[in-house]
Amino acid sequence: MNNKKLPPLVPSNSLLFGSAKEFLNAPLNFITECQNKYGNTFRVKAGPKSIFIFSEPREIKSLFTLNDEVMVKERGPRIVLGETVLTSEGETWKRQRKYAQTYFTRDNINSLIPDMEKIIVKQLKDYSGKVDLHAFSVKIMYSLVIKVIYGMDEIKLLPDLSPLVDEMIDFVRSRPAQLIKWPLWLPLKSHKKFHKIKKQLFDHINEIIVESKKQNKTSFMSFMEKDPLATPEELVNEALTFFVASFETTANCLFWSLYLLSRNENIKNEIYKEASNSNLIIKTLKDLSNYKSINNVIKESMRLYPPAWFRSRLCAKDTQVGDYFVPKGTTVWASIYLVQRNKEFWTEPAVFKPNRFLDKNINRFAFIPFGGGKNTCIGKGMANLELAIILKELFKKIDITPVENKEVSVKAGITLAPKEKYYVNFSAREE
Ligand code: HEM
Repeated sequence: MNNKKLPPLVPSNSLLFGSAKEFLNAPLNFITECQNKYGNTFRVKAGPKSIFIFSEPREIKSLFTLNDEVMVKERGPRIVLGETVLTSEGETWKRQRKYAQTYFTRDNINSLIPDMEKIIVKQLKDYSGKVDLHAFSVKIMYSLVIKVIYGMDEIKLLPDLSPLVDEMIDFVRSRPAQLIKWPLWLPLKSHKKFHKIKKQLFDHINEIIVESKKQNKTSFMSFMEKDPLATPEELVNEALTFFVASFETTANCLFWSLYLLSRNENIKNEIYKEASNSNLIIKTLKDLSNYKSINNVIKESMRLYPPAWFRSRLCAKDTQVGDYFVPKGTTVWASIYLVQRNKEFWTEPAVFKPNRFLDKNINRFAFIPFGGGKNTCIGKGMANLELAIILKELFKKIDITPVENKEVSVKAGITLAPKEKYYVNFSAREE
């Protein structure tokens, strides 16, 4: 390899910790400032390691499509989830993805639509007046996720699991920045807390699986159980993985879509017209394409607030990504957040303009909320469908207006969640 140019290094004040503190405290502000100062690609020192951050579509394409002898998934999430579709590699990943894929076929997703509609309509009946928008989004998505993944119609809403999942991820994410990584069996305070949270999460998932089995439900899990090589432990890990991957991502995406609509009267009216057009129905995934405004709102909120705001990989062999040399052992990030707000590829990138998606020439790798390459999100169709049905059913009947005109800031955890509460008024639309 001739070109050994490395991305510019972001200077840091601490020799030992590098920029770990700034990075962990306010990651979005930090990476945005770095991009403004050092360009689309830069290097950040975090503890003993440095992370290469990419936000240029051509480079991002490389990261997602380089084969897994060169770019491997990071090991961190395996501490929590074990070996599952989201974390595994090679033959194990192929086997797990193959079985998971049998559930996410078009026909199967289509067969779930009537039940999904029923759940959404039922949930919407519970709301009027002042509504905590995030709590609403979490509750409605929880009902859908437990139906889709576990086949359950009703289950009591357990204490909000997101903080637990966030704490686990924070723990995993802070490990690369630690100078010494103590083995997890050592009884340190942080390790004890980690094991306690992990147990709580697994107990919760087990409870749902047991209940689902009792009721003999057909679900994602019953499809995964057909794999003769899947051990009971692997199945519980998959059950948690699919919960984590599908719940917070869609709940937060719903929150941001509704938040943005509540603050944009004209766009909200477009959605209202589309939702109440009796010539349009959703019977199959294909029908979604008729809901242009709704689809564009979903895309635009995922552009501004991508639930999976970065994807990381570990470089297993010296390689070249775009103009830069990436040495073996480097952690690399495809920064979905930065590329989707990059002014070189988006006009007025910070402005909510769903109709920008009418443009057919959008750079494929400047808009990657669901990733790219062979690990593209397996739940992409399902997520888009769930979100579209909710927007359609909600705006057909209900108007939402902000209780106060305030901007909500973002908390970058496992996904991008709102930092503060945001209330809206749900009022019946006049027919
Ligand atoms: C708005 C919602 C969602 C977003 C933005 C999203 C985003 C993503 C992204 C960016 C990846 C790529 C990961 C990588 O390359 O490292 C991914 C993978 C994945 N997603 Fe999603 N996701 C969403 C919803 C869902 C749903 C509903 C499910 C399941 C029902 C799901 C299950 C998965 C799984 C299992 C993977 C791993 C795929 C693999 O490595 O083969 N996601 N998702």
